[in-house]
Amino acid sequence: MREPVDLEGRVGRTKGLRGDYSRMGLDYTVHQEYSAYTDVHQDTWRRLYARQRELVPTRACAAYLRALDELETLRYGDSIPRFDQVNEKLQAATRWELVPVPGLLPDDVFFSHLARRRFPTTVWIRDPEEFDYIVEPDLFHDFFGHVPMIFSPAIADYLQAYGEGGMKAARLGGLKYLARLYWYTIEFGLVREAGHPRAYGAGILSSPAELRFSVDAEGPHRISFDLIRAMQTRYLIDDFQKTYFVIQSFGQLFEETAPDFSLLYRALERLPELEADTHLPTDHTVGG
Ligand code: PHE
Ligand code: FE
Repeated sequence: MREPVDLEGRVGRTKGLRGDYSRMGLDYTVHQEYSAYTDVHQDTWRRLYARQRELVPTRACAAYLRALDELETLRYGDSIPRFDQVNEKLQAATRWELVPVPGLLPDDVFFSHLARRRFPTTVWIRDPEEFDYIVEPDLFHDFFGHVPMIFSPAIADYLQAYGEGGMKAARLGGLKYLARLYWYTIEFGLVREAGHPRAYGAGILSSPAELRFSVDAEGPHRISFDLIRAMQTRYLIDDFQKTYFVIQSFGQLFEETAPDFSLLYRALERLPELEADTHLPTDHTVGG
């Protein structure tokens, strides 16, 4: 998950975050000290993995499930993944690379990694007491939620374009809007497959409760993806989303976000902000 560290004016600060930022390089990367993972850490990975693995077949999108199968040739669920092994597969699939980081990063650092097809991936795993809920994203969220989606060529290209667009958004005062786009696509996005909503957002894929809720439940407002509508809409960071945006394909996402956003950011300043639970007459509801 990418928590809105940026939205709260804490850009560039990593104090108060949970990872160890004391031994990193200038680009915020660290080494994965594999032998530092304890039996408890490994057991946490296995249990999280097994629980979530049961849920994805009828709820995750096809591209996700294909990539997970590929990763499972590494016995992905048996122990905490090793960066070098996963990178070998990822390089071959989409020329992306995972880089180990202590946790959340300042926006500019995060964007510049993405722009170079490097996905910042957290090295620590949650404590057993936090099995069901964590505030900051850990390695389970990153490896189980994000990594399989980066095997998809259109998502891989979208993420790179997002990184490139981030620098520009920072200059143009568009970060707030860009953060919402990330949230409603990469973290909480749904894609329509054979008439059904399926998860491709990492925040959903790594959460047992929200995976069921977002795909199966009657409650949430599931609407066709609309770029401006998504960028106008506030999001919730400590509850299930009220609104999910459903794309038709990953190609649609890439194409609709390809145009220059400069004018869009200015137009958005004059449009109303929408609450997370707003229903508009123009929303196109997608059946489940
Ligand atoms: N096209 C956007 C711009 O010009 C960049 C972008 C691409 C942003 C993809 C998000 C996702 O700013
Ligand atoms: Fe994330």
